[in-house]
Amino acid sequence: MKIILFGAPGAGKGTQSKLLVDRFGWSHVSTGDMLREAVTNKTEVGLKIEKMLGLGQLVSDDLIIDILKEKLSKFDPNQGLILDGFPRTVNQAEMLIKEHLEVNHVVYLKVNEKEVCQRLSGRRVHLPSGRVYHVDYNPPLKAGFDDVTGEPLIHRKDDYPEQIKLRFDLFYQETMPVLDVLSKEYVVHTLNISNEDVQSVFKKVLNALDL
Ligand code: AP5
Repeated sequence: MKIILFGAPGAGKGTQSKLLVDRFGWSHVSTGDMLREAVTNKTEVGLKIEKMLGLGQLVSDDLIIDILKEKLSKFDPNQGLILDGFPRTVNQAEMLIKEHLEVNHVVYLKVNEKEVCQRLSGRRVHLPSGRVYHVDYNPPLKAGFDDVTGEPLIHRKDDYPEQIKLRFDLFYQETMPVLDVLSKEYVVHTLNISNEDVQSVFKKVLNALDL
């Protein structure tokens, strides 16, 4: 099974991906996690994109396509795969279609903007694993620390109000048109998930995937 999880910043793509990985052992490819890892490791790419990422700007299509192609070349085609945060522009969607990656489902997590802003400002992340928490909706056992490793959690630089606004603007301008491109090629499920907790959203996702 290969799926694309699509949605605005903070819609819950990372959260639902983790649940799917835990249940089915699929691979989770998050372009956001890959870029943040490059920044943490201070790679050549990481140093180039650090500022853009902090501001909530999109990284160039060429760079994203290169890192994604490299990642997918190592991927066992018989294994389940979740694409999270890709494609995010029409160019990226067209590249995906050109590569003939067989995608079984696109799941659009549709949630209202006000709710998502509250989620993002309270989000805390364990960078090495990509595990996400929320100070109110999904708190760690000990405030500020990862449940599994006990390491400190961070407040992402792009999770402050000004950057959240910019990320939303980019989502509407650059990313929403992707849905039209994908719907011509793949089955798209739009799930209305406003005011639904993590587990109810998961049930809807499983239902959409016929699992
Ligand atoms: P990326 O990391 O992909 O960020 P994003 O798409 O903005 O998505 P988020 O990670 O913010 O949110 P999410 O939907 O995963 O929500 P989450 O599950 O964490 O990308 C970051 C940056 O990298 C981009 O801005 C860009 O610069 C660059 N980039 C990445 N991909 C790119 C590409 N393809 N091209 C160009 N640039 C690219 O949930 C959010 C919070 O809500 C958490 O605290 C969680 O606990 C809570 N929560 C989740 N579900 C619920 C629920 N149902 N109820 C209550 N709380 C919930």
